[in-house]
Amino acid sequence: MITNQTREPAIRVQGIQKSYKDLQVLRGVDFDVQPGSIFALLGSNGAGKTTLIRILSSLLKADAGSATVHGFDVATKPGDVRESISLTGQFAAVDEVLTGRENLVLIAKLRHLKNPGAVADDLLARFSLTEAGKRRAITYSGGMRRRLDIAMSLIGNPPIIFLDEPTTGLDPQGRIEVWQTIKELADGGTTVLLTTQYLDEAEQLADRIAILHQGVIIQNGTLAELKQLLPPAKVEYVEKQPSLEDVFLTLVGETGEPTDAVPADAAATAGKESR
Ligand SMILES: Nc1ncnc2c1ncn2[C@@H]1O[C@H](COP(=O)(O)OP(=O)(O)OP(=O)(O)O)[C@@H](O)[C@H]1O
Ligand SMILES: [Mg+2]
Repeated sequence: MITNQTREPAIRVQGIQKSYKDLQVLRGVDFDVQPGSIFALLGSNGAGKTTLIRILSSLLKADAGSATVHGFDVATKPGDVRESISLTGQFAAVDEVLTGRENLVLIAKLRHLKNPGAVADDLLARFSLTEAGKRRAITYSGGMRRRLDIAMSLIGNPPIIFLDEPTTGLDPQGRIEVWQTIKELADGGTTVLLTTQYLDEAEQLADRIAILHQGVIIQNGTLAELKQLLPPAKVEYVEKQPSLEDVFLTLVGETGEPTDAVPADAAATAGKESR
């Protein structure tokens, strides 16, 4: 296991501010992300998640504050930052006319890697896409397309990856597949900063969770720390109704890891999925 305590953060965000004309989106955002961890940035539509990701990827300039990524200042060392990261945007960048393998080979060639075919085959295997790799991406399910998109962004082995809403629009099985992929990345030592609007996604994946609200981080902690912010659970009788997701996954069967979708304290959290 990597001991992170003594290492400098993979990502350090200090006092970042950003406005679009009169609209003040980020009003002083601060957080650190430790190397090899999964950090989830939670926020509603329009909270400024994509804006922050664009600033950290050096695609957009902040109005104030500073940020370092892999030790490089995003404002003064954008080239080094871009070499240290991959960005999987909110909308998939896969070319549908090409096969999965051709998509990967294309990116590997663009990055001037020595053996593009071998790089592609390795990634296809890692992402369980070896068979599908021969087919055009237009025939892929949403989950497969997302996995291919993430695989493409890993070419060149960047130490830090940004995933902007990696599972938006996927069905529950597709989401579980992508979650598994993200966990494996972090297990391999990659630092992952992801944004999501799905609370369960952050709950499943993240080592730390930060909530971006009205331009600032209003909470930042582990899941256990965030849960402690609320008063201790009252013991009361609640009829636990399975969520539609529980029913769906039970009927269809999960492809991912064993489920712990129904926690021991299910009664206390009953209704969290009610819509
Ligand atoms: N280029 C731009 N020009 C003007 N306003 C913008 C621009 N980009 C984003 N905004 C506005 O800034 C705010 C934050 O947008 P942003 O895309 O960062 O939010 P988000 O948290 O990623 O939202 P979502 O969950 O919908 O993806 C929104 O009100 C958006 O309309
Ligand atoms: Mg966004």
